[in-house]
Amino acid sequence: MFGLGRDKELVGVDIGSYSVKAVELKAKKKEGETQYDVKKIGYELLPHDAIVEGTIIDSAAVVETIKMVFDENKISNKNVIISISGNSVIIKKIALPAMETEELAESIIWEAKHNIPYPYEETNVDYAILKPPPHADEKNLDILLVAAKKDKIANYSNVISQARKNLDAIEVDVFALQNALEYNYPEIINEKTMAMINLGANITNVIIIDRGNPQLFRDLSIGGSFFTENLSKDLNISFDDAEKVLKGLPVKDIQPEQLQTVLDMNMQNLLEEIEKTFSFYEAGEKKDKKIEHIFLSGGLSKLKDLSSSFEQKFNIKTEIFNPFRRISYDDKKFDNIYFEEMAALFGVATGLATRKMDR
Ligand SMILES: Nc1ncnc2c1ncn2[C@@H]1O[C@H](COP(=O)(O)OP(=O)(O)OP(=O)(O)O)[C@@H](O)[C@H]1O
Ligand SMILES: [Mg+2]
Repeated sequence: MFGLGRDKELVGVDIGSYSVKAVELKAKKKEGETQYDVKKIGYELLPHDAIVEGTIIDSAAVVETIKMVFDENKISNKNVIISISGNSVIIKKIALPAMETEELAESIIWEAKHNIPYPYEETNVDYAILKPPPHADEKNLDILLVAAKKDKIANYSNVISQARKNLDAIEVDVFALQNALEYNYPEIINEKTMAMINLGANITNVIIIDRGNPQLFRDLSIGGSFFTENLSKDLNISFDDAEKVLKGLPVKDIQPEQLQTVLDMNMQNLLEEIEKTFSFYEAGEKKDKKIEHIFLSGGLSKLKDLSSSFEQKFNIKTEIFNPFRRISYDDKKFDNIYFEEMAALFGVATGLATRKMDR
């Protein structure tokens, strides 16, 4: 109130392997509900190979890009929240009998040591107690166990401090996306079993939520850069031309039919990977559960006809996720491109920015 809470507002910074996105929101309470307004927003591409397989290789380039996002968009708040993803982050849902907090902390360590495929000493472990589903057995707690490799955390924290920002929190992509979903689509979250698929350059995050209860979080090693690499190889064109082709821009000497064949092959491959994840969920303990709604986001969700390919393959209503659906912004202050063409890229950054302020 009266600006006293201002310090708590964090800039959500999504450091992807293709681009850096930043969102700062302003929260206000209206009739007991939090409403958000976009305060700042920014986007910059990263050089190729600055981040490879989830590791920041060229930290100087990443630091410069982060600085650029802040400077060009006049983001003066230095307090940031970032997120990490990929195979150095492990998320497990476990059930434990209800117990006292201290006992719980010990059990979590035990569970982490037995459930995480990395030495316990090399990871940072955190957990969240899930809100029990209606009619749940109160003797049990559903817990999300999260472990992240310390070297991954150090790798990402370093670029933030080198860019002279204060790192306030580290989240994982999938939780940030879940926040953005919950805030923007409450009616679907609470009534349906839904899947959110965030298609980036190297990682595709998959989340399945059954009426507000998270069921599955997964990071698949697939995304737009695999499309680009295959297009470049199969059509014998440069990486930059392959990028253009992917974005539907004209490239000299490329026949549409030739291009369509390669794109279709990549698309089939992507759909099969997603199908495996869906089947894994549907074959689990809850046999009656079927995914009823799909949201797509991330850069590759811009691929032409992607939603309809998903609808055809899975026979499930599919739409492009809009992280600004219930967030207002001043259209005189910002370029509309962020909220229209580019909106689907901001799922993680917006989810990060909403999260901290709720606490
Ligand atoms: N208009 C478009 N059509 C098709 N693909 C696109 C389009 N625009 C961007 N892409 C692809 O989207 C990908 C980038 O998406 P995004 O910005 O979500 O990735 P990222 O978050 O930086 O990467 P990651 O999280 O996987 O490390 C790239 O592979 C790019 O080629
Ligand atoms: Mg990403």
